[in-house]
Amino acid sequence: MFPSTRLRRLRRNAALRHLTQETYLHPHQFIYPIFVDENLKENKAIASLPGQYRIAEAVLPQYLQQLYAEGIRAVLLFGIPKKKDADGLLSLEKEGFLARIIHNAKTATPEMLIISDNCFCEYTQSGDCGVTRKGCVDNDLTLKNLAQQAVLCAQAGADIVAPSAMMDGQVQAIRKALDKEGLYETPIMAYSTKFCSSFYSPFREAVDSHFLGHRASYQIPFPNSKEALYESALDEAEGADFLMVKPAGLNLDILHQISTQTQLPVVAYQVSGEYASLQFAAQAGVLDIDAAMVESLTCIKRAGARVIITYFARALIKLLEEQGNHV
Ligand code: PBG
Repeated sequence: MFPSTRLRRLRRNAALRHLTQETYLHPHQFIYPIFVDENLKENKAIASLPGQYRIAEAVLPQYLQQLYAEGIRAVLLFGIPKKKDADGLLSLEKEGFLARIIHNAKTATPEMLIISDNCFCEYTQSGDCGVTRKGCVDNDLTLKNLAQQAVLCAQAGADIVAPSAMMDGQVQAIRKALDKEGLYETPIMAYSTKFCSSFYSPFREAVDSHFLGHRASYQIPFPNSKEALYESALDEAEGADFLMVKPAGLNLDILHQISTQTQLPVVAYQVSGEYASLQFAAQAGVLDIDAAMVESLTCIKRAGARVIITYFARALIKLLEEQGNHV
């Protein structure tokens, strides 16, 4: 065959590789999840997520300012309240913990995108994602509360609301409620394709959830790709501004298909179990954590994610900075 094809020509040195690299990681397209704990006086390490901390409520403002100075531009807030109740209704109080941490976060760092995770699993005693009736989460009762919680968060200063409860119709219910309050500029980041995954378990320790049940009656079964695509199409039709795939790294096939089928920005959530797997493997000395971090995130991006939610965001941005944006 002539001319002779030699792919190694463009791999010869770093400058050639960088010139032709198809996928780059950019610090502005990461979202860093943060756990804010009402019970703590000082930050506390999360054993299930090496390198991550529960942040004491009083420390949150200065912590966010530090993250902003490091280059983080978007955070996803999870609250760990002092008191939980049967249906999670304490999260709906105007002067309550959830509204307060969002307001304080926005006030401390007005330029930072503050994203609220909207669900009830941190606020119910059972750890269920909504109102339970006869042992099952009731879809439509939960919808009403979710819409109220999203409005509360937007009014408290959330730039984006991110419903993660997986109730049918939640995007539409939230869109209607936001618009009714004049909050038509608040985008909805829909957890549209959220699989029922065992990879969320380190998160449950992180938020102090004592959940013993199963989310199979509302989250998507992982063997099903048509159902996953349908969920995402429905959320788009209901008015979502972002779609999401979660867990990201296990579902690159779905992520890729969704990204080719929609014009909306697609977000990928590299979840707690994915992060913990890499961290504990690195601790055992069998993986280089920086290399594994960069590879896992670049491949998620290559599959079609525009934005990535990851517990690595802070470490990645530091590495990008150190290496002049070439990782
Ligand atoms: C709330 C929520 C969960 C996660 C994000 N939002 C837990 C769940 O659905 O059980 C998991 C995030 C992670 O594992 O990193 N519903």
